[in-house]
Amino acid sequence: MSNIIDGKLVAAHIKARVAAEVKELKQKGINVTLAVIVVGNDPASEVYVRNKEKACKELGIISKVFHWDFSDPKMGQDRILELIESLNYDKGINGILCQLPLPAGYDEKVITNAINPSKDVDAFHPVNVGKIMLGDYDFLSCTPAGIMEMLNYYNIDVTGKECVVVGRSNIVGKPMSMLLLNENGTVTTVHSCTSNLAEVCRRADVLVAAVGKPHFITADMIKEGAVVIDVGMDRDENGKLCGDVDFESAEKVAGYITPVPGGVGPRTIAMLMKNTLTAAKQ
Ligand code: GUN
Repeated sequence: MSNIIDGKLVAAHIKARVAAEVKELKQKGINVTLAVIVVGNDPASEVYVRNKEKACKELGIISKVFHWDFSDPKMGQDRILELIESLNYDKGINGILCQLPLPAGYDEKVITNAINPSKDVDAFHPVNVGKIMLGDYDFLSCTPAGIMEMLNYYNIDVTGKECVVVGRSNIVGKPMSMLLLNENGTVTTVHSCTSNLAEVCRRADVLVAAVGKPHFITADMIKEGAVVIDVGMDRDENGKLCGDVDFESAEKVAGYITPVPGGVGPRTIAMLMKNTLTAAKQ
């Protein structure tokens, strides 16, 4: 039976620290402010953005949500770039994020790259990605950073450990591998073209699943006592929220495991709040 990692507990600690500093800045006349751009009506994005707004309110951060719904992406994209430009120059805005995915026809790369790196609280801009790669950063990508905070909170040192990251997305898999490497882990990234994926996973002391496939990681792919981190936010065949890891079987083998929900999710938003505070302090 594994130890269940409580994401909400770790998030609460991070949020408490951020809230105290936000309050201090407020006393000096600085209102920490986050601009959130949402394009279209993706139901998952609506939920994520609502949770971000809720977290801001809880911590005393002002959130300004810009909801854009253009049917013509060609015209819409230009308008969003204009909005980003004005937010980049607005001294009252500390952090800017554009919720992904964008509707078909929009160019995520162009929009992400338009955000001033010093306000890029998602750390998606190439400048911030490059800084993470060099281990000398202002902002860390929120999901991987939340995972590192959690490992730290549970005194799990990755130095010299076999760390396997399943998935190579720009948002999670790649920065996750980089952060584990920065902390001296021996890191392998596996993905859809890896031929012996299960075998590599079985070597992992720390296994991070970020593939977006329900129950993809089963108990036979996990080493006895491994730390298993589940980034998945999937739906099973009955439409129930679940992760990339088959929790029921995995928990019998793993040493530590994150549940879904209540694992990685809450920490991700806490790290966004921390990045917004960092932007304001700059
Ligand atoms: N869509 C899913 N996760 C994220 C995230 O962390 N940031 C943004 N901007 N969009 C997302």
